[in-house]
Amino acid sequence: MTSGKCRIKKYTYGTPFCTDAVVEQTAAGEGSPSFITELDNGFTYQMTPSDAVYGLGENVRGINKRGWHYVSNNSDEPNHREDRTSLYASHNFIIVDGRERFGLFIDYPGKLTFDIGYTEHNTITITAEDMNFDLYVLEGGSLKEIVQAFRHLIGRSYIAPKWAFGYGQSRWSYLTADEVREVVRKHRENHIPLDSVYLDIDYMERFKDFTIDEEAFPDFACFVEEMKKQHIHLVPIIDAGVKIEEGYDVYEEGVEKGYFCKEADGTDFVAAVWPGLVHFPDMLNPDARKWFGHKYKVLLDQGIDGFWNDMNEPAIFYSEKRIADAIDRVQEFKGKNMDLTTFEEFKAVTGTLSNNAEDYSSFYHNVDGKGTMVCHDKVHNLFGYNMTRAAGEAFEDLEPDKRILMYSRSSYPGMHRYGGIWQGDNLSWWSHIELNMHMMPSLNMMGILYTGADLGGFGADTTEDLLLRWLEFGIFTPLMRNHSAMGTRRQEVYRFESMEAMKKIIGLRYGLLPYLYSEYMKAALKDEMYFRPLAFDYTEDAFAAKVEDQLLLGDGIMVAPVYEQNAEGRYVYLPEAMKLVKFRSLTERTEEILPAGHHYVPIALDEVAVFIRPNHVLPMSYGGECVDEVDFSTLQLLGYVTDTAVYEWYDDDGYGKDYDNPANYSTFVVKADGNLEVKSEKKLNITVSL
Ligand code: GLC
Repeated sequence: MTSGKCRIKKYTYGTPFCTDAVVEQTAAGEGSPSFITELDNGFTYQMTPSDAVYGLGENVRGINKRGWHYVSNNSDEPNHREDRTSLYASHNFIIVDGRERFGLFIDYPGKLTFDIGYTEHNTITITAEDMNFDLYVLEGGSLKEIVQAFRHLIGRSYIAPKWAFGYGQSRWSYLTADEVREVVRKHRENHIPLDSVYLDIDYMERFKDFTIDEEAFPDFACFVEEMKKQHIHLVPIIDAGVKIEEGYDVYEEGVEKGYFCKEADGTDFVAAVWPGLVHFPDMLNPDARKWFGHKYKVLLDQGIDGFWNDMNEPAIFYSEKRIADAIDRVQEFKGKNMDLTTFEEFKAVTGTLSNNAEDYSSFYHNVDGKGTMVCHDKVHNLFGYNMTRAAGEAFEDLEPDKRILMYSRSSYPGMHRYGGIWQGDNLSWWSHIELNMHMMPSLNMMGILYTGADLGGFGADTTEDLLLRWLEFGIFTPLMRNHSAMGTRRQEVYRFESMEAMKKIIGLRYGLLPYLYSEYMKAALKDEMYFRPLAFDYTEDAFAAKVEDQLLLGDGIMVAPVYEQNAEGRYVYLPEAMKLVKFRSLTERTEEILPAGHHYVPIALDEVAVFIRPNHVLPMSYGGECVDEVDFSTLQLLGYVTDTAVYEWYDDDGYGKDYDNPANYSTFVVKADGNLEVKSEKKLNITVSL
């Protein structure tokens, strides 16, 4: 297959499991792949000292992945620390950029290790547990062209409804309808824009999927409607495990139809998560997937139009067998005088209960629905993908013309066609703002465009300045949600002294929406990246290649968030002259032209810095307190134009799926003297500000 300047060749090893990650037919490569050397259990490649390696999607460390080792092994890992090797996803695509430039996608759903200059500085070694996979080698073209070719190979990215580009407020958990009402009231009363409130596990009756706790949320459909009238979308969580409970229809039907994952002896595998003992729906069995996906109808029918899928690595607190064994083993330590070794053994008895590899190798999937059983550990990384696919395929059936918000915690390439992801259980740490920044372009490479992190941080107590700085980056991420864990400091913005500043920053997001939505849609429809590292555009600039804390966003802007405590600004590298716009709010801004080079840019705690590239414009609205209120037909074009700027603007109704209609595109041509020419089928009212 050739896509632009990039050629893709497929090499098949052994008998790969069909993951359905790829949607395009690809010619088989002849002989062995060029560039890399085959090993018994993988590949190796010799880098030069200056080669960079991009990719791996949701992972720890920098944008250039060199200098660490990573394991594709989807894990419920709340410690997003540098010493981790796996998070919630397996995104087995890398691009090596240096002496040679090429991309590799290893379509393999089992455990895969990427040693990228960790054991030896100049060596990449990729090893699989068995040699059964398809390897795609992408060669020719620029970094952007290789990404585009890969994205074409795996199919169009998920497109969220427009309202999901508004601000969302979440907490584990808002326990009652009244508590949700209060959150909404506080936002509306204080004019803090808001489009969604999230329902975490406690909205359910004893953590049972597709049920509602009627006491806490009486007359749920009416409540959903009441919220809709205030332009608030409620977004409930769905968990992977189905509670074992007599009389619970999802459990009983699943058992009866044989739709749960099985032990080797054919009995249903029992694990424990929030509700206690659960079965896992066999997301890899097409019939079970269809069945589970259609369960979302229970909530769709009550007016719900968005979901988040959680614990779908799948996370296991303990398995029934393992806990029985652990309880026996703990007895053995009774009365013992434990020295270091014995105490470590004692701790390991309970410390290894969760997400244990032995449990993952003890249950099976009926992968064709006809009895072909595959052990879970061979296909572990596909579980979350197929849970989200279950929902996505059902939505196509149930609501073919409507966009439903969907994002997942766990993922694998292919899932990006059905939903986005949130970046899991981060902490209220400054370094996690930086990690959020690093993940954005890496995820975009994988086709995951609808993504963002828990703003303010999920675990640990947030601080006011951290939340402010995080919001200042979060206003640019497609998913913009403030979420935090049970037991941590509350972090709704109305609880802080600097509520006014936070409110203005969130308001700015609504002002930026015409640009952000347009760039999101173009990225999805043209297989492009919404966020890019500087190295992807300024390919000849040695300084730009090293910058990891500034990102290009779409066609015309660069962002450089502050992510250090007590900082009053930061160093920024400009590969070319740019216009710096500092916003305090949608209506309060200062502008100055900065020449190319290194600058220290003061950015106060309540300011957002946006850099406009030369001969580019930034279409903005006049804001609103929810997406419905934003007038996308009255725009102000903020620009830095020395000659001519040409902007291709995308807009649509935001709810339907008529994406490819040419009427969705308009063109704005702006000259240095402010003259504007508009080509559009829409009635637009536009002013220019240069
Ligand atoms: C998991 C999720 C988190 C959620 C919690 C309770 O930790 O990652 O977002 O709040 O479960 O459902």
